[in-house]
Amino acid sequence: MPKITFLPLGRTIDVQEDQSILDIAIDHDVPLQQACGGFCACTTCHIIVKSGSDSLSPMEEEEQERLERMGILDQHSRLSCQSKVRGDVVVEVVNLDDY
Ligand code: FES
Repeated sequence: MPKITFLPLGRTIDVQEDQSILDIAIDHDVPLQQACGGFCACTTCHIIVKSGSDSLSPMEEEEQERLERMGILDQHSRLSCQSKVRGDVVVEVVNLDDY
């Protein structure tokens, strides 16, 4: 079973393969912002992949365009609603809601 660790919270969670990072965050009360509800239409769910980028679903064109349009060009950046977990991964949440 894959694991995901959310920084800076330091929370590690066992997950079902192919769940999106956003869905995992919602299910486990990780305060990750999601202004568009997971439709790749904002960038509030932006995360930085610290390790395990090969364990995420590949980036689709729509996600890449959204990140580029917002000026987010970091190669470790992903949108959590578009990233499905397929192995162990460590991510940093960029926009934390108050917690
Ligand atoms: S929640 Fe808006 S792009 Fe992911």
